[in-house]
Amino acid sequence: MRTIDWRADRIVLIDQTRLPGELTYLEISSVDDLVDAVRRLAVRGAPALGVAGALGVALAARTLDGDPDAVRTAAATLRSARPTAVNLAWGVDRALRHLHRGPDAILAEALDVLAEDVRCCRELSLRGADWLVQTVGRPVTVQTHCNAGALACVEWGTALGVVRALHEQDSLGHVYASETRPLLQGARLTAWELARLGAPHTLVVDSAAATVLARRLARAVVVGADRITANGDVINKVGTYPLALAAAQAGAPVLVAAPESTIDLATPTGQDVEIEIRDGTEIVSGSGPRTAPAGTETLNFAFDVTPAALVAAIVTERRIILPSAGGRPDEPQP
Ligand code: MRU
Repeated sequence: MRTIDWRADRIVLIDQTRLPGELTYLEISSVDDLVDAVRRLAVRGAPALGVAGALGVALAARTLDGDPDAVRTAAATLRSARPTAVNLAWGVDRALRHLHRGPDAILAEALDVLAEDVRCCRELSLRGADWLVQTVGRPVTVQTHCNAGALACVEWGTALGVVRALHEQDSLGHVYASETRPLLQGARLTAWELARLGAPHTLVVDSAAATVLARRLARAVVVGADRITANGDVINKVGTYPLALAAAQAGAPVLVAAPESTIDLATPTGQDVEIEIRDGTEIVSGSGPRTAPAGTETLNFAFDVTPAALVAAIVTERRIILPSAGGRPDEPQP
């Protein structure tokens, strides 16, 4: 299963708004339709957005008669469709750098981005699994949040990639997944993926995650990231910060699994990152009948900032960074 792919001059992607009820694919043949799919979270998750960004530029170059200005304009719209996950801008920029070489070169670069995602996620997952086994011992029990699985990438996840690697090595005890209000990526997508993997799992409401950790049902937290700043702050789905606070109280390490493309060295700290604020209707009627009285004011932060001090480790395809011990993503590489 590929979450996003390129077939016959179109972007083909799983419509994640229809899961877990239906596994259906969208065939996207215009950048406008891709922007719409990104905004309504038909495609979502930082690495998948990076691939969507690169493929979107390839699509623009093929459909806009090779007009560089039109491609640049389409790329700018796509780049800003969601502001927080740095991978979207990264994927767009990477493909756009080949604009002067023509549509085929842009597509080749976008397909490289896609293939790299599979390789990077696999490598960082194996590294993350080793780190967890060494840090908390086997069998590893974890709490995760949102969806950082294959659905958030191309075909191998980040946080759920670590879970998959543990499961395949017979080192996984149990996974607790939080629902992830208001759009329920944990309930709809993570539980669906874990069932397909055959990994033992339990769904809890977001506010129960602290109790799961306090009762030592899960010995570690593993999550993905939408952006990691130069100082090691981690921006991820809203609810990650309180989860990390609860983990600190319980003495459970927080592992962040993300490709290098999620690290944004140009941004000093998490306080410098734009946090997407989504429509409040997602809170009051995102999952069925309206819950709050008409006219209730809402504030729908889609992400939050977990300070570096609460993050035990960040694993990427290249390295392990230990922020709570003073490690920083912007340290010089050997
Ligand atoms: O709003 P979403 O569903 O795009 O948010 C996704 C997350 O926060 C994920 O945890 C993050 O992108 C990492 S995915 C490997």
